[in-house]
Amino acid sequence: MRVTILVLLGSLRKASINRQLVEVALESAPEAVNLKFFDRLGELPFYNEDIDTKAVAESVTALREAASEADAAIVVTPEHNGSIPAVLKNAIDWLSRPWGSGALKGKPLAVVGAARGRYGGVWAHEETRKSFGIAGARVLDDLKLSTPTETLGGRHPRHSLEIAMRLRSVIQELAVEAAGPSVPHP
Ligand SMILES: Cc1cc2nc3c(=O)[nH]c(=O)nc-3n(C[C@H](O)[C@H](O)[C@H](O)COP(=O)(O)O)c2cc1C
Repeated sequence: MRVTILVLLGSLRKASINRQLVEVALESAPEAVNLKFFDRLGELPFYNEDIDTKAVAESVTALREAASEADAAIVVTPEHNGSIPAVLKNAIDWLSRPWGSGALKGKPLAVVGAARGRYGGVWAHEETRKSFGIAGARVLDDLKLSTPTETLGGRHPRHSLEIAMRLRSVIQELAVEAAGPSVPHP
């Protein structure tokens, strides 16, 4: 079975280092994994229950459909002021509704990313895990990568074998979790 993993990016910046991490993920994903990058978080309106109706914005429908079609999700994000970038938090809020049956409910999810600080965005990553967990995803706390950007020395992360291998292993583990326990042969 080919596993589909939704990719969400917490930066809108063109030259985003986290976007580069997404590029590495897309380049290095195992053959059996279909990575679906939803690159439209900047188009989502701010979450507001008044507009979370049947006639919801097309970008919201597209996000929820992409999440519904996925078996798992990987979130790639920097840290903003010690926390989750607003654009990503907004997406979590949209994905958390309808409450109790959001499109990522029960699906395995991992959080990775890079930030300028010496801990590589670990606060944002922890809060993203907490928030997606409350929103209903099955967050895999051990599948992590928090890269201080200075370790990249200004180079694209695809030049770091360590990062490429870590991302590949996070994706691989997510795929295994999404596929569920294998059925034993009789
Ligand atoms: C509004 C703002 C707040 C930031 N706050 C933090 C922070 O709390 N911790 C941190 O490590 N870096 C922080 N940074 C620096 C980002 O980690 C750095 O700009 C990073 O490259 C952003 O990710 P991107 O390249 O994917 O856009 C902040 C940057 C901005 C623009």
